[in-house]
This record gives sequence, structure tokens and C-alpha cells, in this order.
Amino acid sequence: MSEKVVSDYNGYDYKKIFWEEADREYEDQADRMAIRKLLPKRMEKFADIGGGYGRLAAEYLKRAHKVYIFDYSKTELQQAKEIYGDKIETKVGDIYKLPFKDNELDGLMMVRVTHHLKYMNKAMSELYRVLKPGGVAVIEVANKRTLPKMARFVTGRSKVNPFDKKVANYKEISANGFYNYHPKYVEEIFDKVGFTTEKVLSVSNFRNKGLKKIFKTNNLVKMEDKAQSVLAPIRFAPSIYYKLRKPEK
Ligand SMILES: C[S@@+](CC[C@H](N)C(=O)[O-])C[C@H]1O[C@@H](n2cnc3c(N)ncnc32)[C@H](O)[C@@H]1O
Repeated sequence: MSEKVVSDYNGYDYKKIFWEEADREYEDQADRMAIRKLLPKRMEKFADIGGGYGRLAAEYLKRAHKVYIFDYSKTELQQAKEIYGDKIETKVGDIYKLPFKDNELDGLMMVRVTHHLKYMNKAMSELYRVLKPGGVAVIEVANKRTLPKMARFVTGRSKVNPFDKKVANYKEISANGFYNYHPKYVEEIFDKVGFTTEKVLSVSNFRNKGLKKIFKTNNLVKMEDKAQSVLAPIRFAPSIYYKLRKPEK
């Protein structure tokens, strides 16, 4: 690929700007809760793909013997190293050409990255390639078929049709790319690549400024805990989490 295909976080303080200075405690807790439900308890080699500064490392450090944080951004990886030191190994590169051997990892996760991916098919093939047969991938997908997006479309405030399987491209990669996916579209890719889907969770169900004003974070988090499984079949939360397995040969 000669075109620019990576949303570049070099020089951007994602940790401070997106998490520490913003009201996202609920979203952070919702991600962690889903990961705890989906990741295997014990893994030999694990990689957090597009793991940034390792925001979610507490959820996997105790479950894996060897932990890699992989990212394109050296800024993010440097922060991860400062925080976790020898507990992790960082690897820099681009998702479309992962620096892992075939069948090398027992587990991996990729959270809050799909919205930067123009080529979902290619990215999923790479994840499949580096996993061992029997290995697990926990993938978070930025959903285009959410309730607010449906409302915006039917009232004419948005031209993006959330019911259409086509990828929603809100910003090009040259402007830090922003894509949302229809659940059916990604599920077809998972099947085509060879993954089996073991579990699906609906995540960040109550991501809404109004709800955050009414409810305390810990109450939203309690409701989220129940909703993640119950609402999974309708797939209209902003984040859909998949537990995928590469079948044994
Ligand atoms: C929104 S952050 C998510 C970080 C982390 N997973 C989390 O949930 O806090 C997206 C991350 O994906 C990385 N990224 C985006 N496109 C990438 C690509 N093509 N290859 C490698 N990393 C990429 C960015 O550098 C950034 O660290």
C-alpha cells in the first residue's frame, strides 16, 4: 500500500487529552468490564494491538506471561514503557503488516482502533495470521448502527444511512481517518477470514451526555454491567465487542 493508511498519533497526548481531561470514566469502566468478561484467564503470549499507552494493561498483565503492546505511534509506546517498564515489550509498526510470526500469539485484543481502519478485511487477516490455532482475539468495533445515528438519519440530520452495510467514512486517513462499521459487515469479514465468534457484548450502552448528568458514574457502570449481554443481540451500542477464536486445525 503506497497511500497513507495510518491515523498518526505521534505527538498527540491521547492519555491526557482524551482520557484524563475528558469526562470518560464511564466509557473506560465499560471497556474494562467487557475485556474482563472476554479475555482468557491464562495466556502465554498476548498482544494489545493499537494498544496506545497501555490504558487497558491492568486487564491483561496478570493473565499473560509475555505481553506486547503494539502501536504505530512512538509517542504512545514511549508512554507505555514509562508506565509499565519491563512488564511489557513494545513493538512499533502498522496493523496491515504486523511484526509477529504466523501462529505466534495465544491471545490479542484490539480496542478503539477499528474507527481508524480503512481496510478491515486486511487488518482482520493479519490478526488471524499471527494467532495460534485455538487462540482468542477480542475485537472492539465502532458501530455505525447506533440508536442516535438512526435518529439523526430518519430526521434528516445525517446523510449516513446506519441501516446500510457500507462502511461509514466520516474523515479520510489524511485527516486522522474515522470509520464506523455495520455489525453485519464486520461479522461477514470475521467468517470469511476464518474466525468463529464465541461471544458478543454491547458496550458503552449509556454513552450520552444527558444520562451522565442524571446518573452517577457508578450507577451507569452497574447498569452497563447488566446491559452488555442483554443488549448484545440488537447490536446498537456505539461499541460492539467480539470474542473470536481461530479454530484448531
Ligand atoms: C483511540 S487509540 C486506542 C488506544 C487503546 N487501544 C485504548 O483503547 O486506549 C487508537 C490507537 O490505534 C493506533 N493506530 C491507529 N491506526 C493504526 C495502524 N494502522 N497501525 C498501528 N496502530 C494504529 C493509534 O496510534 C492509537 O494509539
